[in-house]
Amino acid sequence: MKTYLIANWKMQLSQSEAQELAQIASEQQINSDNLEIILAPTFTALAKVGETIKNSSLKLASQNVFYHASGSYTGEVSPLQLKELGVSYAIIGHSERREYLHETDEEINRKINICLDNQITPILCVGETYDERRTGATDLRLITQVTKALEDIELISPHQSLIIAYEPIWVIGSGQAINRDDAEHAARVIQQALTDHFNSDKINQKISIIYGGSVTASNIKNFIIPNLLDGVLVGSASQTPNKFIPLIQALK
Ligand code: PGA
Repeated sequence: MKTYLIANWKMQLSQSEAQELAQIASEQQINSDNLEIILAPTFTALAKVGETIKNSSLKLASQNVFYHASGSYTGEVSPLQLKELGVSYAIIGHSERREYLHETDEEINRKINICLDNQITPILCVGETYDERRTGATDLRLITQVTKALEDIELISPHQSLIIAYEPIWVIGSGQAINRDDAEHAARVIQQALTDHFNSDKINQKISIIYGGSVTASNIKNFIIPNLLDGVLVGSASQTPNKFIPLIQALK
């Protein structure tokens, strides 16, 4: 399995800032057989960032996608339009979208479906709130989110794969990541949910589980665990060169 380093730039960077950061990241020497660096700029920067990295091994992700390929859906962006810009991954169901945009498990399921139909690899985000953690409801929350997001999805075609980002909501942007044991436990819960859902443990070869939430250069290594956690989804520490480049170097 490759290690994934996914940079979620959220709504933080202008087009030129995103382009500049993409340029700096693309100049890093990496072994792309082992490390997949994926940049997820805001929609308006996708074209420019795509241009900037097109001759490098870096990959482009969108932070969202709509669940129809075309039609009269004012303000939405289809997977086909994203592919035109070189997008090969899409973040789906990030907790900020679930919370502020009221994105539902059903919409998330439809978005995953349309991505898989159009050769875009979904990066599904799941995670518990602080209250769920406090009351011992974390495992059930993860199992429910994974199962609903993947309802009727089979991953049969050889090209179809999926990344699941475990992101405890209360940790995102807090500056304080969870410890390795807790991340390991959550990844095992997700792995078991996948085995149960697909009725096969072979499916784990097509699905990578990664961790997200206050990852920095000093804790990133905690979240790379062979056969369990294959990388990280990073927000704030991926949005400036002085924090992002050390992350790349830590995984080289
Ligand atoms: P953070 O964000 O690294 O700033 O905690 C992670 C995310 O929202 O994906």
